[in-house]
Amino acid sequence: MMIDVKKIRQQFPIYDANPDLVYLDTAASSLKPKAVIDVVDHYYSKLGVNVHRGVYGLSYDATDLYEAARTTVAKFLNAKFEEIVFTRGTTSALNLVASSYLEKLKPGDEIITSELEHHSSMLPWLQVAKKTGAVLKYVELDQQGRITVEAFKAVLSDQTKVVALTYVSNVMGYITPVKTIIDLAHEKGAVVILDAAQAAPHLAIDVTALNVDFLAFSGHKICGPTGIGVLYGKRHLLNQMSPIEFGGDMNVTVDKFDATWKEAPYRFEAGTPIIAGAIGLARAIEYISEIGFDSIHEHVSKLHAYALAKLKAVEGIEIYNETAETGIIAFNVLGVHPHDAASIFDQNKVCIRAGHHCAQLITKWLKQIATLRATFYIYNDEKDADLFVESVKEAVRFFGAF
Ligand SMILES: Cc1ncc(COP(=O)(O)O)c(C=O)c1O
Repeated sequence: MMIDVKKIRQQFPIYDANPDLVYLDTAASSLKPKAVIDVVDHYYSKLGVNVHRGVYGLSYDATDLYEAARTTVAKFLNAKFEEIVFTRGTTSALNLVASSYLEKLKPGDEIITSELEHHSSMLPWLQVAKKTGAVLKYVELDQQGRITVEAFKAVLSDQTKVVALTYVSNVMGYITPVKTIIDLAHEKGAVVILDAAQAAPHLAIDVTALNVDFLAFSGHKICGPTGIGVLYGKRHLLNQMSPIEFGGDMNVTVDKFDATWKEAPYRFEAGTPIIAGAIGLARAIEYISEIGFDSIHEHVSKLHAYALAKLKAVEGIEIYNETAETGIIAFNVLGVHPHDAASIFDQNKVCIRAGHHCAQLITKWLKQIATLRATFYIYNDEKDADLFVESVKEAVRFFGAF
């Protein structure tokens, strides 16, 4: 079904106060629909109490909503309830997995990652490698900057224990061929951890069909609240992992000199959990699922193609990812620092991102110090794309060599 942007925008209160807003920074964080704001508001105004602890009605109601949110996430990923750990975001989910591998890896074991990663997907493994003596190996990117199965095979070995890769790149918008990579990694007995922060807003993710071991995403990039994310992990793998935070609600027995932990997911949710965040995330998942990934993909692809065609006609710029599948345009105005160019966009109320996007390795791979990034989502239309391209032209005229 075609997306009706006018109708969608009516569901995002930010447009009431900023009707001229051209928001092209969804890869950093999506806007939030009223449906999500309302359930978060409902929790704070009608419940506001803790979960799992209170022996009274309000606490039971809050607990029901919090655990129902886990069910919603589990269905969204085609996972089991107990395989869903609520975290602060993708970053804390990926760090949680990596910390547990500190006790599992030894010198000579190999970890495969790539230069396409967001820092939160590769830095935890860089730390693990340094502390354990494991070897960090990088998949060589192809000419476009993609991870290919062939290049993955070239670094895969009998020593590979961990594969940590991005499902969709936050700079280039490429989709990694994850299914084949997962199968190949499993043949070597390695576990695969996917960073799905940029996949979750664009792709229907089925962890069972993928047979992936761990996968992480953030609520705030899929129309949900900030401060909530998800770690999916296969049940037996989660239960083999030690908690990294210790405190209330995660233990079964506590003695003066010993303690035992609950099964996953609760062993990883020490202390008061992110209750409103989880409830908001579940509503966000329902919201984007009602729109549907087919419609999202169709809309984003059309807009991306429209903007790209216009952009390619602009002289004095360089586009780095013309074949991106997920509505991301990475580019620079030739000879102009992206932060200078970005000031023109800001003046025109066009919100795009300038910088290294927490992915310095791919920025270096592109031989740039930083890039500009525009991303399209469900609330964007052709007028946004036009204003974006006009701003690019203005930046070229103002700062560029043309
Ligand atoms: C691909 C990718 N991975 C990880 C992250 C980190 O997400 P968060 O900051 O929500 O933890 C981001 C956020 O920009 C991202 O784009």
